[in-house]
Amino acid sequence: MNETTSQTDSGKRYYIETYGCQMNEYDSSLVAGILEERGYEKSDLAEDADLILVNTCSVREKAEDTALQKLDSIAHLKRKRPGTRLGVIGCMAENRREQILARIPQVDLLLGPDHYDKLGSALDAGAPRRGATTGLGVDRNQTYEGFFPAAPSTVSAFVAIQRGCDKKCTYCIVPFTRGPERSRPSHDILEETRRLVDKGVVEINLLGQTVNSWRSDISFAQLLRELGRIDGVRRIRFTSPHPRHFTESVCLAMAETPAVCPHVHMPVQSGSSRVLRAMRRQYGRDQYLAIVERLRRHIPDVAITTDIIAGYPGETREEHLETLSLMEEVRFDSAFMFAYSARPGTPAALEPETISPQEKLARLQEIIELQQSHSAQRLSEQVGRIEEVLLEGSSRRDEREWIGKTPHFRKVLLHPGPEARPGTILPVRLLARRGTVLRGEVA
Ligand code: 5AD
Ligand code: SF4
Repeated sequence: MNETTSQTDSGKRYYIETYGCQMNEYDSSLVAGILEERGYEKSDLAEDADLILVNTCSVREKAEDTALQKLDSIAHLKRKRPGTRLGVIGCMAENRREQILARIPQVDLLLGPDHYDKLGSALDAGAPRRGATTGLGVDRNQTYEGFFPAAPSTVSAFVAIQRGCDKKCTYCIVPFTRGPERSRPSHDILEETRRLVDKGVVEINLLGQTVNSWRSDISFAQLLRELGRIDGVRRIRFTSPHPRHFTESVCLAMAETPAVCPHVHMPVQSGSSRVLRAMRRQYGRDQYLAIVERLRRHIPDVAITTDIIAGYPGETREEHLETLSLMEEVRFDSAFMFAYSARPGTPAALEPETISPQEKLARLQEIIELQQSHSAQRLSEQVGRIEEVLLEGSSRRDEREWIGKTPHFRKVLLHPGPEARPGTILPVRLLARRGTVLRGEVA
């Protein structure tokens, strides 16, 4: 199949630490698949591994700092065990190469997101005498066709259907680290899904930076319908759609395919059309609200979640208030909320930062508080309903307590849990809200 199939490394152990987005989590499972085909076994401890990989994220400064600190401590470990090989993969391998090698000379492998297929040959080549083995730069044809991730340990799995991004939002580093948008062929996606189902997966989450712009021989809407026809696929999710590509046909495919969940994570970023234009988001406030309206028309109780950035360069107090008022209009079920972080190399990083760090954090705090109240209200509205809950596993705190999700992606705790296996879907009466989760009992 590929160059990595020979069992040359049986008995060796690998450890992967993953930072950042779900795409990175998926990529780590892809890399794990390559290693396991070579005979490597997974280790839960970096200390026990022959190969340590850190999959890194560049989306905000904090993510980069966390990964660098982790690398410092792993480098320390490597000094004690010089035979261990240390690799950095992901977005920082791509755009922070010099900084990583200067700070952590113990790194002997650097692979950007389009170069994981070179892992096998890099391992065959052995440790370089000087510097690090690298695979860097964007490969605009890379879709990892014929590569499949390692078996998941959960009943829910990611399936990357697209790599890279063509949108070039001004604040975002992703188009630089992951390159232009590429759609994976539909036969590969369907094949991967069938393999996952054979291993006990019942829920798939399709991944892409702008997942609904995916297109190969068929459209994204048709892909949803095709996946919905695979026996054993009980739930289909996708993240993150871009508002511009939320067409009527995607809404119809969602509404008409029972396995597609009534939940949409649709990043808005700002409620101000002026700021959205400055960000080059390709939609304005009214267009976003129109798409929300379209979604609610087709799927009346759809859950909508989002991403919001506070304090984009030049954002005025009034424009910030527009974000709050958009939140009031939509009443998102939940949101990921971030303070703007300048990423060197992006167009926005050239803009003067007009907002003080204190003001930026104050705006973020206002957004968080409003969202917390909306999240609580939206959850409380569910109490009394009966929902189909997918049982994921028992909670870490108490083995008798089960954790599950509703189709709307709401977390439910069942205590005591039923006699059942993970992956079972049961009707559950929602009894009460407890913080950010719901408590329920089998109906
Ligand atoms: N600063 C803050 N947040 C950012 N995001 C992306 N780039 C930045 C940045 N430079 C956020 C966006 C995106 C999410 C994945 O991360 O909200 O949707
Ligand atoms: Fe970044 Fe915009 Fe692409 Fe999302 S759509 S990955 S925010 S450039």
